[in-house]
Order: sequence, then C-alpha cells, then structure tokens
Amino acid sequence: MGDDRSRRADELAALREGIALGMTLIDTAEMYGDGRSESLVAEAIAGQRGKVFLVTKVLPSNASRKGVVRSCEASLKRLKTDRVECYVLHWMGSYSLEETVRGFEDLLAAGKIRSWGVSNLDHSEMKQLVALPGGKACATDQLLYNLSRRGIELDLLPWCVKQGISVMAYSPVEQGRILGHKVLKQVAQRLGATPAQVALAWTLRQEAVVSIPKAATVAHVRENRKALDLELDAEALKALDAAFPPPKQARALEML
Ligand SMILES: NC(=O)c1ccc[n+]([C@@H]2O[C@H](COP(=O)([O-])OP(=O)(O)OC[C@H]3O[C@@H](n4cnc5c(N)ncnc54)[C@H](OP(=O)(O)O)[C@@H]3O)[C@@H](O)[C@H]2O)c1
Repeated sequence: MGDDRSRRADELAALREGIALGMTLIDTAEMYGDGRSESLVAEAIAGQRGKVFLVTKVLPSNASRKGVVRSCEASLKRLKTDRVECYVLHWMGSYSLEETVRGFEDLLAAGKIRSWGVSNLDHSEMKQLVALPGGKACATDQLLYNLSRRGIELDLLPWCVKQGISVMAYSPVEQGRILGHKVLKQVAQRLGATPAQVALAWTLRQEAVVSIPKAATVAHVRENRKALDLELDAEALKALDAAFPPPKQARALEML
C-alpha cells in the first residue's frame, strides 16, 4: 500500500475504516514502497494517533545497533509520530541478534519504541534470541501463517505461546490464493460467511495469534472485521483440517 498514487484515496479510506471499526493494529515496514507505505499510514492516522497500535519493521541490512536506531528515527519521521508500539526485525540477516537487541534497547530507553519483536525467525533462532541478555523481552514473531501454511503448528507456535510471545500471522488469506478453495467455500456457505472471513477466523482461533490481512478497499475491511465475530464450530474445524492438513513433520520455516 502507498505505492500507486491512483489507489491512494481508496487505501486511505480502507485504513481509516479499519480504525473506525476497532482494527487498530497497523503493520508496515521501512521496506514497503521504500517508505511510502509508512507515509500513507501517517496520513491515515492523522488526528487519531492515540487509537492506533503501530508496528513497523527494520530491514536486516540496517539491523546493526546504530543502524536500528537510525532506521527507526527515519520511520518515525515518515510516520509523523514520536514512537511506535512495536518495532520488528523484518528477517534474520548478517548482524547478530545480540547487536540488534542492543539497538532495540537503546530505542526503548529513549521512549521511541514501546516494545520490539522479530519476523520470520524459526524455532532455533527464537531459542537463541530468548537466551540472549534482554532477549526475553521479545513481544512477537511475525510469521507466515494461514490454512495452507501450517508448518509452525508443529513446534514454533506452541513454543511461542508457552513463552508468552504473540504470533502475528502475515498473509492470513495467502494473498487471496486460498479463497477459491472448494472446502473453504463450502464451510463459509454453511456458516453464512465468506471464505476470507473463515480463513481469518481460523488464524484467530488461538488467543496468542494476531492476524494482519492487507485490505486496500473499504468493502474488504468491513468484510474482514466480521471475522472477529465468527466462531468456527467443530464441524468447520474438522472439514478445514481434512482439506488443509496440519503438519506431520518438521520442515524449514516458510516465508513470503
Ligand atoms: N513479515 C513479513 O515478512 C511479511 C511478509 C508478507 C506480508 N506481511 C504483512 O502481512 C500483511 C498481509 O499480507 P499479504 O498482503 O502478503 O497477504 P494477505 O493479507 O493474505 O492478502 C492480501 C490480499 O487479499 C485481498 N483481500 C483482503 N481481504 C479480502 C477479502 N475479504 N476478500 C477477498 N480478498 C481480500 C487483498 O485485496 P485488496 O488489497 O484489494 O483489499 C490482497 O490482494 C501485509 O500487509 C504485511 O503487513 C509481512
């Protein structure tokens, strides 16, 4: 979002509708549109900053102790704010996690971030992270998670739950690719819902999971909000498990 001028009015309206409906966690990143996504978010939240939980992300190439601080300050400028609620390492790069955590701690001490987290870190990287001084403060691991990407259920997701680390499910509708699936459509029809609502409600069935769909139209935002009220019954969960089986053996962490 924020990349195409001709879509800007729709995107702003979609973000503002989300806030009005109480979907107040907004996820962005310095990488998205080379900062243009953050600038769009700034415009959308103008006059209502206090309602919003802002998450933005630092690129691994900027994740040295000093680089994290520099990147965050640039993000704050684009976001037109003085702090973000959660600052996230986008994926693991060549800087050590120890160094990146130091940068996060500098930002916490300066009041520029309220918490920090990571994204696309696998089970073994997460275990290394929490073993570091200050590592237990990690608030979230933002991970690819949807009906067709269930690998994290085997070990990483239950481990995060146990540690009190929330999982932010990104691409929760698999960028639209799962929405035409026959079983998903059947389950949705029986529940009087849409496939997107079922897919989102499925990611939200566990308390530790936050779901961050991208929706650039007001219609999609309104539809997605209703997923919060949708409860998947045992019959729906069984049908979805059969169509999108849970993982049986460990495999490398998937990412998009
Ligand atoms: N940490 C990471 O590495 C990482 C990677 C990827 C994504 N993310 C984050 O996760 C967010 C979402 O991921 P994503 O954009 O990859 O995938 P997604 O949310 O699964 O899918 C977005 C697509 O689904 C469509 N959509 C949304 N609601 C819909 C509905 N109710 N009915 C039909 N289609 C609907 C959107 O259309 P419209 O846009 O037209 O509404 C868009 O084309 C991103 O915005 C980003 O913040 C993080």
